[in-house]
Amino acid sequence: MRSNQELLDMAKAACDNAYAPYSNFFVGACALYDSGNTYVGCNVENASYGLSLCAERNAMSNAIVAGEKGKLIKIAIYSKNQKNCMPCGACRQWMAEFKKDKDMEIIMESEDNKCAVFTIEQLLPYGFML
Ligand code: THU
Repeated sequence: MRSNQELLDMAKAACDNAYAPYSNFFVGACALYDSGNTYVGCNVENASYGLSLCAERNAMSNAIVAGEKGKLIKIAIYSKNQKNCMPCGACRQWMAEFKKDKDMEIIMESEDNKCAVFTIEQLLPYGFML
């Protein structure tokens, strides 16, 4: 199983592929499932701004496309623009959809270049579930 730092490094590599000519805000993400598999994503923007896709949701979509049947245990987020790059509300809801449990971890690069870790329960308390 990969370490938090390895996941952050994979998110950083994905960030290099981000397509963000409108915001110039570049994001990469790496999602780890309990199968041990990892999936990366980057943000992909569009001239019609609202159609832009976030890095985290692209990573989780890639898992589904690849046939992943496991549950999400961690996701690392990296932005070359900002430390502690927090996931947007929509991405938090997506994480809740695929999470293994309430202790699923969201990992970011802290100011001192270490890993800051939050749980989905901390970032999306009382989230919507069917
Ligand atoms: N973005 C992400 O990729 N993930 C987030 O959680 C928040 C925002 C992207 C979307 C857009 O391309 C750029 O960052 C600026 O909002």
